[in-house]
Amino acid sequence: MNKKYRKTIIAGNWKMNLVPSEVKPFAEELRSLLPKTKTCEVALLVPFTHISTLRRSLKDNRISFGAQDVSIHEKGAYTGEVSADMLADMGVHYVIVGHSECRQYHGDTDFTVGQKAAAVLEKGMSPIICVGESLEQRERGLTMEHISYQVLAALSFIPEGKERQIVIAYEPIWAIGTGKTATDEEAQEVCAHIRAVIREKRGARVARSVSILYGGSMNPKNAKGLLSMEDIDGGLIGGASLKPKDFSQIIDAVAEVTGEE
Ligand code: PGA
Repeated sequence: MNKKYRKTIIAGNWKMNLVPSEVKPFAEELRSLLPKTKTCEVALLVPFTHISTLRRSLKDNRISFGAQDVSIHEKGAYTGEVSADMLADMGVHYVIVGHSECRQYHGDTDFTVGQKAAAVLEKGMSPIICVGESLEQRERGLTMEHISYQVLAALSFIPEGKERQIVIAYEPIWAIGTGKTATDEEAQEVCAHIRAVIREKRGARVARSVSILYGGSMNPKNAKGLLSMEDIDGGLIGGASLKPKDFSQIIDAVAEVTGEE
């Protein structure tokens, strides 16, 4: 299957880090480190409080930006929540939905993850839908079954014709923030499986056009191997995205893999 049908995306997930006054210097440093040619799409997914500063700091469209979660509700009496409409109005492009930390700490379920993905699409943005197995599931040989279930559940909320706007991130829970990365082959195997599930449900043309990212302790050292895999179209990067140098080296790895200058 050919990668030319889909985008390569290197997305930084800042999680709950940095304060708004640190955003501008970060963006300036990152911009100065980016390769001159656009080898892939670069995105920063930041806390809600950082979005407007980031938007002002980016100045051009070399870096897209996004949020890390969204409400399932459209508007109204939902204290503390942020709607898809609000994010779209701020120029947000991507919204992470179903990150394992949101599933674990905020009670996200496959159902609410699907609702969030649909809300994001409805407002013209792209959901980055996270799936991934726990260590126990992997050890018990349940990885593929679990991933199929999560992907099928999310897909059931995606209207036909809108699939090209979604991004899927495979993030094995045991690899997140632990320094343990899936091997290139382990990550490829699951990403290929995700594509096969999409193919079965929505056809080969759709499957080849959906970008599937790997996330979980991706860093400048392991990025090239992971990004060379046939079904891995980029990375969702936590820790290493907080260091402009490391993050830009991961972006450089895309250029090395694709052979671009
Ligand atoms: P990590 O986080 O790169 O720090 O493991 C990835 C993620 O949770 O998106």
